[in-house]
Amino acid sequence: MRALVTGGAGFIGSTLVDALLARGDDVLVVDDLSSGKRGNLAPGVELTELDIRDTGELAKLTAEFRPDAVYHLAAQIDVRTSMADPVHDASVNVLGTLSVLQAARDAGAGAVVVCSTGGAIYGDGAPLPTTEDEQPEPESPYGMSKLAAERYTRFFVRAHGLPALVLRFANVYGPRQHPAGGAGVVSLFCDRARTGQRPTVFGDGGQTRDFLFVGDVARAALASADRLLAGELAGEVFNVGTGTESTITELAATIGRIAGLDADGFAPEFTPARPGELRRSCLDPSRGLAALGLPSPTTLTDGLAATWAWHRARPGQL
Ligand SMILES: NC(=O)c1ccc[n+]([C@@H]2O[C@H](COP(=O)([O-])OP(=O)(O)OC[C@H]3O[C@@H](n4cnc5c(N)ncnc54)[C@H](O)[C@@H]3O)[C@@H](O)[C@H]2O)c1
Repeated sequence: MRALVTGGAGFIGSTLVDALLARGDDVLVVDDLSSGKRGNLAPGVELTELDIRDTGELAKLTAEFRPDAVYHLAAQIDVRTSMADPVHDASVNVLGTLSVLQAARDAGAGAVVVCSTGGAIYGDGAPLPTTEDEQPEPESPYGMSKLAAERYTRFFVRAHGLPALVLRFANVYGPRQHPAGGAGVVSLFCDRARTGQRPTVFGDGGQTRDFLFVGDVARAALASADRLLAGELAGEVFNVGTGTESTITELAATIGRIAGLDADGFAPEFTPARPGELRRSCLDPSRGLAALGLPSPTTLTDGLAATWAWHRARPGQL
């Protein structure tokens, strides 16, 4: 199968590329390397360095490659950047997505998987674990631009018959994650543990997140494209999460334990809470798990052990 992955040199994208290569797919990565790295990709993976907002070039490239499946992950992903520069955020996440949808439609792609966020789309106070039926109430420009991208995707399904669906990820963590991401806290804490420093916790540490291992995300994306290629699930929106809430304090303690540090040595340093942060977040993944035929998500302990093993093996700074 021929797979085009936008944002394929990033944290999640490169994990997906590994999974595509492992099953023998022919992969083309499109990435402007604004946060992704060529070094995230296995040697020999075809990478075109291109901004997805370059509509003409992207259309040409996509038409030439003729992908069966397009996985759209390229995005501005930092909530704080979106607050400081909402125009840039919307430009990449809204116009960039439109450019990808158009290119995929014109190239006759049989499946388009659009990656969105559950953590930033549902508002504070949404019932937990949150289902897809909950009305989106994004609190940040990032959440708003991802919601607009979702709506444009639905428009392309309705108006052009594009075989596309949307996946809303929880807080994804795992090897290769840069600390600036939505679940960058796992990456940051692992890095602290590796360099002998204590973790910094904003607020009282009682805020919760739904931490999702990156391998589960790749599995969900592959299953989504397979179903779309079989003529199913176009226009659907699925949460991809674990349904389990963990506090930041619990997370720090678990990472400390896995890293073999004593509880006092890895005790959090508390600093004032950051404005605009959600208090609690947790997605109900059951609809997507059933529709996509996926196994139960990786447990936090197993996922953190794999993530810690990757951090421990790294010689330099992140
Ligand atoms: N990490 C999370 O917890 C999380 C949670 C929910 C949703 N997501 C979504 O998953 C996707 C991947 O996120 P990630 O965590 O791997 O982030 P990442 O920053 O590692 O990956 C994004 C990739 O997109 C590339 N990119 C950015 N702007 C581009 C542009 N204009 N043209 C071409 N390439 C561009 C970057 O260079 C990078 O390689 C994003 O769509 C993000 O919104 C991530």
